[in-house]
Amino acid sequence: MQNSFIAYVDDEYVSEDKAKISVFDLGLTRGYGIFDFFRTYQGFPFYFEDHYDRLVRSATMLHLKLSITPFELKTIINNLMKKNKQKEAAVKIILTAGKSIHGLELNQKPTFIVLTLPLPFYSPEYFSSGVKLISKIHKPYLPTCKTLNYIPALLAMQDAKEKNAFEVLFIDEDQNILEGATSNFFAFKNDKLITPNENIMLGITRKVILKLAEKEFEIEKRAIKKAEIKTFDEAFISASNKEIMPVYQIDDTLLKIGPNTKKIMHLFKEYTQKLLWLKENSGVLRS
Ligand SMILES: Cc1ncc(COP(=O)(O)O)c(C=O)c1O
Repeated sequence: MQNSFIAYVDDEYVSEDKAKISVFDLGLTRGYGIFDFFRTYQGFPFYFEDHYDRLVRSATMLHLKLSITPFELKTIINNLMKKNKQKEAAVKIILTAGKSIHGLELNQKPTFIVLTLPLPFYSPEYFSSGVKLISKIHKPYLPTCKTLNYIPALLAMQDAKEKNAFEVLFIDEDQNILEGATSNFFAFKNDKLITPNENIMLGITRKVILKLAEKEFEIEKRAIKKAEIKTFDEAFISASNKEIMPVYQIDDTLLKIGPNTKKIMHLFKEYTQKLLWLKENSGVLRS
């Protein structure tokens, strides 16, 4: 990363090393806030409207008000990318409940931050040979709200690292597969694409995959039991930054990187890299 980059903090473009938020900010003192994250393709924010809508939904769930229009937000992102001389970026938008001396009042002016960061790098091997997952029991809390609280995810990822796994597969107390710590989960079973549908973050990458896959495969959005892992033919995870990564192992079960996953990866690559999505949504920006 460059030494110092420009961030947008509460109506101002400011060098990241000079940016300030209050020590009383509820995002810091209570972890009270939300965020959203997406990337650009050839400089265009991918599925921007969907991410904006999810940001608003997350904000509403925490009684936070996002007082910025989609057009204004897109302009800020474009300006930041110009100021940071970025052709491509990972965009992070953060909204916290703002300053509260005693840490209990929510009616303050929210803190609003936009960051455009370099895209994270993942070894090409993750895409060609796949990644390993370990399962972990997890109690979802506001799963559809993208809150700042990733404590269970980060703790679980620490465990995954120790076991040479790339990602954690969260399982609920009824033994249903949910999602990854920072990704959604899919499997193929007899050429049917299956994915959990409840108590998960509704990933935008997941939405795009389902849209692209429906022309090629039968799809089942349903509860999937952990015991079914042994019956999967293929599996993969999805997220804005990771795109689609095949899975070669879940706990002790080995899986092959099969033709169906490769097909979906190909469709996704074509859709994103050739900007097919942009042509499809060449719609007017709401302001
Ligand atoms: C818990 C969780 N589920 C799913 C996803 C994938 O969401 P998206 O495809 O919108 O990036 C993420 C992304 O970080 C996540 O944190």
